[in-house]
Amino acid sequence: MSRDELTKIILPEDKLPKFWYNVQADMPTPLAPPLNPVTKEPLGPADLAPIFADELIAQEVSTERFIEIPREVHEEYKKWRPSPLFRAHGLEKALDTPCKIYYKYEGVSPVGSHKLNSAIPQAFFNKIQGIKRISTETGAGQWGTALSLACKMYGIEAMVYMVRVSYNQKPYRRIFMEMYGATCVPSPSPLTESGRKALAENPDTPGTLGLAISEAVEDAVGREDTKYSLGSVLNHVCMHQSIIGQEVKLQMEMADDYPDVVIGCCGGGSNFAGIAFPFIPDKLKGKKVRLLGVEPAACPSLTRGVFAYDLGDVAGFTPLLKMQTLGHNFVPPGIHAGGLRYHGESPLVSQLFNDGLIEAKAVMQNDCFSAAQIFAQSEGIIPAPESSHAIRAAIDEALKGKEEGVSRTIVFNLSGHGHLDLAAYDNYLSGKTEDIEFPEEALQESLKTLPQV
Ligand SMILES: Cc1ncc(COP(=O)(O)O)c(C=O)c1O
Repeated sequence: MSRDELTKIILPEDKLPKFWYNVQADMPTPLAPPLNPVTKEPLGPADLAPIFADELIAQEVSTERFIEIPREVHEEYKKWRPSPLFRAHGLEKALDTPCKIYYKYEGVSPVGSHKLNSAIPQAFFNKIQGIKRISTETGAGQWGTALSLACKMYGIEAMVYMVRVSYNQKPYRRIFMEMYGATCVPSPSPLTESGRKALAENPDTPGTLGLAISEAVEDAVGREDTKYSLGSVLNHVCMHQSIIGQEVKLQMEMADDYPDVVIGCCGGGSNFAGIAFPFIPDKLKGKKVRLLGVEPAACPSLTRGVFAYDLGDVAGFTPLLKMQTLGHNFVPPGIHAGGLRYHGESPLVSQLFNDGLIEAKAVMQNDCFSAAQIFAQSEGIIPAPESSHAIRAAIDEALKGKEEGVSRTIVFNLSGHGHLDLAAYDNYLSGKTEDIEFPEEALQESLKTLPQV
C-alpha cells in the first residue's frame, strides 16, 4: 500500500515519547514573570506553594527543553496513547480538495478528550507530595471528568466546581464525574465566599470559568489537605500536552509527509499548544509551517483582546499573568463550546502570537456546527463543539487550496468527541443556535477593569 493510501497512522507503544517538550527553552522572547495581585511584585515559586504541588511549580518555571515523564505516568498514558493520526480521506472527498487533511484524535482517551494528558501527571505529582484532596473548576465538564478519573487512580478526593450553565445543560458530565467518585457542584456555590458574593449579587448568574476558578482556589487555600489544579492556560499544562505534537511529528514521518499548517482550537490554549509547540523548533530553523489557533468570535482573546497583565479569575486570587485577555470581568455569551469561554489565553501561546510565530482566527458558532456536520457525515466522528472550531479552519484551508489549485498538507487536533454534547447539536439542527460576535463597547468596558501594572 502506498503511503498516500494510509488511513490510520498508528505509532507502536514503544514509540510513545518519554519526555515532555518545554517550549520555554526555545522562545525568542522569554515569558514576563507572574505578579502578586496585591503588591504587583514578581512571584517566586514559594508564593505558589499554598496553591500548587511543588513539582508542578518547578515545571511551571523551568526552561529545560525536555522533562522526563515519570514511569508511572507513562504507564497510564499507554492505556490509550499513542493516539491515532487519521488521514481524512472521506473529508477530502466531500470537499473535493487537492489538499491532504490529517487529524490527531484525542477523543480515544477514556474520558473522551486531551484533558487526561495533564490530569494524570497533575494528580500523580500531588500524590507523591502526600496531598489528599484536589479542587478544580470545569467549564464544559471535560477537564472535571479527566481530573476526577486521575484523582481516583491515585486515591485522591476530587472537588469540582462546574460553571452553572454547563452543570444545568450537561447532567451526563456530572454523572461521569460522580461515577469516578468525585464531588461536583454548580458554580457559583454557597460553599465559598466568592460563590456566596456572586449569588448575592445575581442569584440567576450563569457562572463563568473565572468565577469557578476563584471558588476552587479559595477552597484549596482554606484547607491543609487540599491543592488546586488548573486544566489549561499554565505552562506546565501546555507542556504535558506536548505529547500530542511529538507523536504527530513521528506519525507524519511514517506517512512521509510534513504539514504546511497545524491547527487547534483555543480555549485556555492547551490542546493547541500541545499539537503546535513541538513544531516551533522546526519553524525557528526556517521550516515553512504555519501554526493556527482558532477561537470563537464570541470570546476572541487572541484576535481582539490585548496583551496585558490580568487576573486569571474573577475574585482576584490568582497571580497576574501577562496574556492576551478580554478582561477578567468579561462574561462570555453562553455559546455551546463551553470549554472556549475563557477571558484569557495561555501566556505561552500569547507571547508566541505576539512574536509572530503563531497565527489566530475567530469563527462563528453556526459555521463550526456546519463544519462538525460535514465532518460527522464524511469521517463518522461527532466532534466536541470546541474541536469543531479546528475543523472549521481546516475545511476553510482545504477549500482555499482548491480555489488556488494548490495541494497543501493540513493537520488539525480533534481534541475530543461530542457524544455528551448532543443537546447542542439538537439545537443546531433545529435552527436555534445563534451567532454571537463580541460587541466592541462590551470589550472596551471590560478592558477598563484591567489591573494597573
Ligand atoms: C474537547 C475540548 N477541546 C478544547 C478545549 C479547550 O481547552 P484548551 O484550549 O485548554 O485545549 C476544551 C476545554 O474544555 C475541550 O473540552
